Amino acid sequence: MDNFDTVIRNGTVATACETMAADIGIRDGRVVALGQGLPRGRDEIDARGLLVLPGGVDAHCHLDQPMGEGLRMADDFRSGTRSAACGGTTTVIPFAAQQRGQSLRAAVEDYHARAEGKALVDYAFHMIVADPTPAVLNDELPALIEAGYTSFKIYMTYDDLKLDDRQILRLLAVARQHGALAMVHAENADCIAWLTEALESAGHVAPKYHAAARPMAIEREATHRAITLAELVDVPILIVHVSGRDAIDQIRWAHAHGLRIYAETCPQYLFLTAEHLGGGYEGAKCVCSPPPRDRANQRIVWDGLSDGLFTIVSSDHAPFRFDDPQGKKPGGKEVPFQYIPNGIPGLETRLPLLFSEGVRSGRLTLNQFVALTATNPAKLYGLNPRKGTIAIGSDADIAIWDPDKQVTIENRLLHHDVDYTPYEGMRVTGWPVTTLVRGTRVWDGGEVCGRPGFGRFLPCGRPDMARPKVVTPADSGHYMANRPDALGQLAQRHDG
Ligand code: URP
Ligand code: ZN
Ligand code: ZN
Repeated sequence: MDNFDTVIRNGTVATACETMAADIGIRDGRVVALGQGLPRGRDEIDARGLLVLPGGVDAHCHLDQPMGEGLRMADDFRSGTRSAACGGTTTVIPFAAQQRGQSLRAAVEDYHARAEGKALVDYAFHMIVADPTPAVLNDELPALIEAGYTSFKIYMTYDDLKLDDRQILRLLAVARQHGALAMVHAENADCIAWLTEALESAGHVAPKYHAAARPMAIEREATHRAITLAELVDVPILIVHVSGRDAIDQIRWAHAHGLRIYAETCPQYLFLTAEHLGGGYEGAKCVCSPPPRDRANQRIVWDGLSDGLFTIVSSDHAPFRFDDPQGKKPGGKEVPFQYIPNGIPGLETRLPLLFSEGVRSGRLTLNQFVALTATNPAKLYGLNPRKGTIAIGSDADIAIWDPDKQVTIENRLLHHDVDYTPYEGMRVTGWPVTTLVRGTRVWDGGEVCGRPGFGRFLPCGRPDMARPKVVTPADSGHYMANRPDALGQLAQRHDG
């Protein structure tokens, strides 16, 4: 009866709620027993002195996303998920990005083709909606949500992606009606454009001026506006990649007013500052949006992690090679800051950095670490309890950590296809030594043993966390359609 494929024995198991000494019995890719002194399995892993944690869920990363003319992401589903596995992450959620004029379904189908046969770990998709036509709002988006694509990103900046407030309201209404979660990139596009023009005309074009073009005020304004739009529609949203105090203040304000606003931050806002954009063109390596701030803001972000303001920590891995005409040097040239592709790599370093500076230094409990990096992202995107925890019946997605392993981060040790890491030379304590996806080792003893194509696509459920605050008895899961008021009628059809 016991008949385990694998037993992980003698380890300290931690979930978002508990830490316990327990063995884990795995059969057919799932956790089937938690206990002490479990019978032998066909495969035995001795985790004495090690931590046994749910595999990480990296719910914000960009892999093989189609880019503008002449640009290319360095990681596809093969190299990106390889790197994820080596850093203890077992599920990734990158973005199927709609181009203007393209159908949303076509973007999703294209993205499936890009992922097919390549991934080492499991994956779901968010969508990016760049062209919310009536067909998208009325037909495609509801059908895709029903089919398991239950989250989408809205951009308030970037010329080819940004939406105006009315478009955002329409999308939020669809999210409410159909039970999806909207993620918002909150920066004010016009303010950035105006500051960029001013900097350029003064001859300030080096990478460090990227930070000057995107000060915290423009993130603050957009964050508050996104909160207001969500309040009008009565729907929860997630503010992604929150960088510092100003946006955090707005989110605290929203919480104080009873609004269900979730927040994400990323290691770049805990470990980098705007000074990393200095030092000549090398600074392009750390150009991302919003930009990293300063040490005082790092501390404020840490506070938000420890006091529960933030729901999740993601990498926002957006991989461009530095020395590459399709990467940070478009056309082979050192270009003005506004033409540098935005984003930094971080899939493999997300968990070790947060474990070392969060858990080891005492800022976070081990259970908070698990919640922020695995359990909460799985809940937020409708993947729990299958993913993000260690429980009977959940997938045996497990990262076994040596909490004392000292590592100096060097790009040559990482497994992405990017030619740098912004964290070069940083010393961390704690690293995953074995990663299992559905009970199968994909990273073990310093070797990649996962197979491209082993990773499966995960349709997502409608997340409970996306439920609006006001759910009347008449609301039976599909909220907005059932609201017997003008707002409900307004949200039901979008005629352009
Ligand atoms: O700079 C960033 N964050 N690039 C990735 C795209 C995005 O907005 O998340
Ligand atoms: Zn973004
Ligand atoms: Zn991103």
